[in-house]
Amino acid sequence: MGTGTAGTAGGGGRELPIVIVGASLGGAKAAEALREAGYDGGIVLIGDEHERPYERPPLSKGYLLGKTPREKIHVHPPQWYAEHDVTLRLGTAVAAIDPAAHTVTLADDGRIGYHKLLLTTGSVPRRLPVPGADQDGVLYLRRVEDSDRIRAALRPGARLVVIGAGWIGLEVAAAGRAAGAEVTVLEAAELPLLRVLGREVAQVFADLHRDHGVDLRFGAQVTELTGSGGTVDGVRLGDGSTVAADAVVVGIGISPATGLAEAAGLEVDNGVKTDQHLRTSAPDVHAAGDVANAFHPLFNRHIRVEHWANAVNQPQTAARAMLGQPDAVYDRVPYFFTDQYDLGMEYVGYVEPGGYDRVVFRGDPATREFLAFWLKDGRVLAGMNVNVWDVTDPVRELVRSGRTVDPKALADPGAPLGEL
Ligand SMILES: Cc1cc2nc3c(=O)[nH]c(=O)nc-3n(C[C@H](O)[C@H](O)[C@H](O)COP(=O)(O)OP(=O)(O)OC[C@H]3O[C@@H](n4cnc5c(N)ncnc54)[C@H](O)[C@@H]3O)c2cc1C
Ligand SMILES: NC(=O)c1ccc[n+]([C@@H]2O[C@H](COP(=O)([O-])OP(=O)(O)OC[C@H]3O[C@@H](n4cnc5c(N)ncnc54)[C@H](O)[C@@H]3O)[C@@H](O)[C@H]2O)c1
Repeated sequence: MGTGTAGTAGGGGRELPIVIVGASLGGAKAAEALREAGYDGGIVLIGDEHERPYERPPLSKGYLLGKTPREKIHVHPPQWYAEHDVTLRLGTAVAAIDPAAHTVTLADDGRIGYHKLLLTTGSVPRRLPVPGADQDGVLYLRRVEDSDRIRAALRPGARLVVIGAGWIGLEVAAAGRAAGAEVTVLEAAELPLLRVLGREVAQVFADLHRDHGVDLRFGAQVTELTGSGGTVDGVRLGDGSTVAADAVVVGIGISPATGLAEAAGLEVDNGVKTDQHLRTSAPDVHAAGDVANAFHPLFNRHIRVEHWANAVNQPQTAARAMLGQPDAVYDRVPYFFTDQYDLGMEYVGYVEPGGYDRVVFRGDPATREFLAFWLKDGRVLAGMNVNVWDVTDPVRELVRSGRTVDPKALADPGAPLGEL
């Protein structure tokens, strides 16, 4: 069976498609990669959302601010799916997968056979487990309609309370301030983004938001959301105080959407476990994007990455692996970005919480135009450029090479990164 042929696995003798469960960034990119690799068999892309595959980063940035129109957020134009003979089934939830029978069962009871299956089911927001959290005006941000609801709440003078100072919380806070809302951010930890960035760099984001008028409160313990008539009107904290709110946005992290995989007996541990080819523990089932906890050869361990670039790139490897190409290995260095107010940044690398022993700055973080590097034993684990551009390639190369560097040279803006 070559790459140009649909499979006949499952024993039925008829041609079976490649089925992709999860029609968002990862799923749409996988369909694209399969066609680019020359596969001309059937592709069925199934998603429970009604919107055709779209990108989520604008939902907390340009789209939320009303600057990026809806027609600009999609992964492909509407006609792309028919042009590439991809059967797109929107508004369709997959209820179960059966790796032995090579079938997926739809929530409406239909059944589809596959010869290869890709899980790109992504992740879902963690719910706030306190009384009052199910009231109107308590908002989460994952889907385009969530962004629409939050945008409607971002009115001048509105009191917006954001719970969680992670990526969602900070980007929504910035959008809220841009819209003229009064914004309070309640974070359980001592600083924003602490697990990812560590104390030294997290402070930069705390300063940024305070300078833009955000009331940032750390060590906050949310105990209850108060309300009247079923609508939220405040957030009660562990110290007994209450913060008044016209709307509450909760961004306290996500959980990978592993339900289908677990029920089918696939190995699941902080996501669907895969090898470096993005193959799961079940034959002919692959996983990519937010849901995949993939073995990474560079780091010699499994990592799960919850960022856009991973959902763009992993599906290319998964597609090639599904087509039987043995050199399809996912070993890219993780990359992500954010935009908040006038701060734009890119980050490349991977650091476990507390997994570094030194931070080196190139430039003054107070100017918000600098690079930061996280080191362990003299090696660069990750680098971040803030309002400095076109440096990602040499930073990625420093991380990938694993070579020891002179911290003085690393801190010296005059020393070319590529020559360290
Ligand atoms: C508001 C927001 C802003 C972001 N901004 C950035 C950013 O600036 N930079 C960055 O690097 N990353 C950002 N991210 C993260 C990035 O969007 C995700 O990493 C990316 O969307 C993951 O893509 P995915 O395809 O793996 O999963 P998802 O985007 O979660 O898509 C999974 C899809 O599968 C569907 N699905 C799940 N289960 C089933 C089922 N049983 N049947 C049918 N369909 C199913 C879901 O409904 C969903 O449509 C942001 C995320 C959000 C929410
Ligand atoms: N620029 C980007 O890369 C970007 C932007 C938006 C979203 N995303 C992705 O979207 C997903 C969700 O983002 P997120 O911000 O929700 O998750 P996150 O993991 O980035 O941050 C969650 C924050 O909530 C805090 N928290 C947890 N429980 C809390 C509680 N009960 N009270 C107060 N604070 C609490 C955590 O300490 C943490 O700071 C992530 O996968 C993220 O990577 C990425």
